[in-house]
Amino acid sequence: MLIELNGISKVYVRGTEEVHALRSVDLAIDANEYVALMGPSGSGKSTLMNILGCLDSPTDGTYRLAGADVSRMNANELAEVRNSRVGFIFQTFNLLPRASALQNVELPLIYNGQRRKVRRARAIQALERVGLADRMTHRPAELSGGQCQRVAIARALANGPSLLLADEPTGNLDSSTGEEIMVLFDALHDEGNTVLLVTHDPVIALQAKRLIRIHDGRIASDEKLA
Ligand SMILES: Nc1ncnc2c1ncn2[C@@H]1O[C@H](COP(=O)(O)OP(=O)(O)OP(=O)(O)O)[C@@H](O)[C@H]1O
Ligand SMILES: [Mg+2]
Repeated sequence: MLIELNGISKVYVRGTEEVHALRSVDLAIDANEYVALMGPSGSGKSTLMNILGCLDSPTDGTYRLAGADVSRMNANELAEVRNSRVGFIFQTFNLLPRASALQNVELPLIYNGQRRKVRRARAIQALERVGLADRMTHRPAELSGGQCQRVAIARALANGPSLLLADEPTGNLDSSTGEEIMVLFDALHDEGNTVLLVTHDPVIALQAKRLIRIHDGRIASDEKLA
């Protein structure tokens, strides 16, 4: 099992107000699964993705990622797991605007302590994988939205992660560009990657192999897709 969540809760405290974003979530995901996560706005999807991606810690419960108990790690240990095991893809791409595509993809390799030659070679390989061999020196402003998302996917792939997490990756793209990005996710899944994506679009969700619906911080349904 790649991911095992047991009784995961997340409570945000703001002044005297408590927001129960996740309520005792149990979830198991195998390596090479392809999972879509749907649910109304505010239901806890991003909160769950951020915990899975070690960007945030749960208030309660245990999270095991590839056998390691992530919920008991300190910030430094979490950063290491995040950098070596998780590739995160966001709706708004989150690229550095003043850096080239190549430099953006090299960034996680720098954090991971890779030597210059190695990281350059890996970044080029990742950009080739997403079909951007001819755009490596372009900055985000010189790329289309779909190309920016490809750079972000290349960056997510750079360290050879165990898990690809995408939070509404097509949310800022027109439908045909979004479809191209989904073709890429399908191929990455076929190549052995574990993919978990949040979407509001049922057509996109149906491309996955498993559909989980979340409602008010709880898993409302979990079904296998044909
Ligand atoms: N940093 C935070 N501080 C306080 N409350 C938060 C914080 N982040 C999220 N929340 C609250 O937690 C709940 C779940 O938020 P979350 O972002 O996980 O929803 P979501 O399902 O991703 O919604 P959307 O579809 O709009 O992206 C919401 O009520 C939200 O207001
Ligand atoms: Mg969200």
